[in-house]
Amino acid sequence: MTLKHFIDTQDFTKEELLELIELTRLIKAADKQGCTPKLLQDATLAMIFEEPSTRTRVSFEVAMTELGGHALYLKPGEIHLGVRESLGDTAQVLSRMCDAIMARTLKHETITGLAKYATVPVINGLTDYNHPTQVVCDVLTMLEHAPAGKKLEELNVTFIGDATNVLSSLMLICTRLGMNFTHAAPKKYQAPAEWIQWAEENNKISGGTLTVTEDPVEAVRNADFIYTDLWWWVGQEDQIPERRAAFMPKYQVNKDLMAKAPAHCKFMHCLPASRGIEVTDEVMDSHQSIIFDQAENRLHTEKGILVWLLYPRLKRPSAELAAFHRGKIENFLNR
Ligand code: CP
Repeated sequence: MTLKHFIDTQDFTKEELLELIELTRLIKAADKQGCTPKLLQDATLAMIFEEPSTRTRVSFEVAMTELGGHALYLKPGEIHLGVRESLGDTAQVLSRMCDAIMARTLKHETITGLAKYATVPVINGLTDYNHPTQVVCDVLTMLEHAPAGKKLEELNVTFIGDATNVLSSLMLICTRLGMNFTHAAPKKYQAPAEWIQWAEENNKISGGTLTVTEDPVEAVRNADFIYTDLWWWVGQEDQIPERRAAFMPKYQVNKDLMAKAPAHCKFMHCLPASRGIEVTDEVMDSHQSIIFDQAENRLHTEKGILVWLLYPRLKRPSAELAAFHRGKIENFLNR
């Protein structure tokens, strides 16, 4: 069976991504009626974290439990990961004991390194380059909150703020799916040329559009969804004064900026958010905000991704075979 990892949405076609989203919707519908099927009975997920997490950690662990499996939380510094043991050795050992590996790594090369040596699916739980599980969840959330009658390809998504790993993933999945994507940021904090080139290549196939601008008001004029993310992250503390000066107040998502968008426009944030910095409390807690629906959808999306990758790979022995082995072992024990 072909080994499929989940490292970058660019590795999948539009049809594959839509199939994954449809599977996620089916699993979510079952969950809402209290009947999540135990599709991953007895499967084990190793979860490696080099950075803290609330949503990614909890959603993957709960997803595995509700699907009948189990997740191991390997917190920062708890296992050998490229220190005292090569990445390849760690990947191969985990592959012998677990059915999949999910990792949040500081460097993107670490996740691709794990995938190179692993013999089970590797899932990217965020790197310095991208956050693919987050943006599958985001598209699912957009479909659930889209204006009545608007198709996926007609949706206008505007990201205001820094060119983060979430921006790269969101820009690439939206363009891959044929949506209309706008990024508004000061010149210095706009997406690098390479990401723009990939997005434009996506658009040639999908019919999507990409606009990059310094004008946030123009960027939100037709937006169905306004999305933002942190302006600085751990390790960028020395840049805070410069970044704050570049973004504030022009790029803050506040009541005034939301008022420039259509009345139906929704607000999204991958969280964690710095309330009062990139977005105000008024917007976070407004009727236009769908941030907690979005956060909940991480759980449903992780289930979709896990089932998509693992279900076809799991061994499901017949009752006869299971009884045969149990009998042999019990005969040995009782001899
Ligand atoms: N959005 C997101 O990935 O949140 P965590 O950092 O809490 O996992």
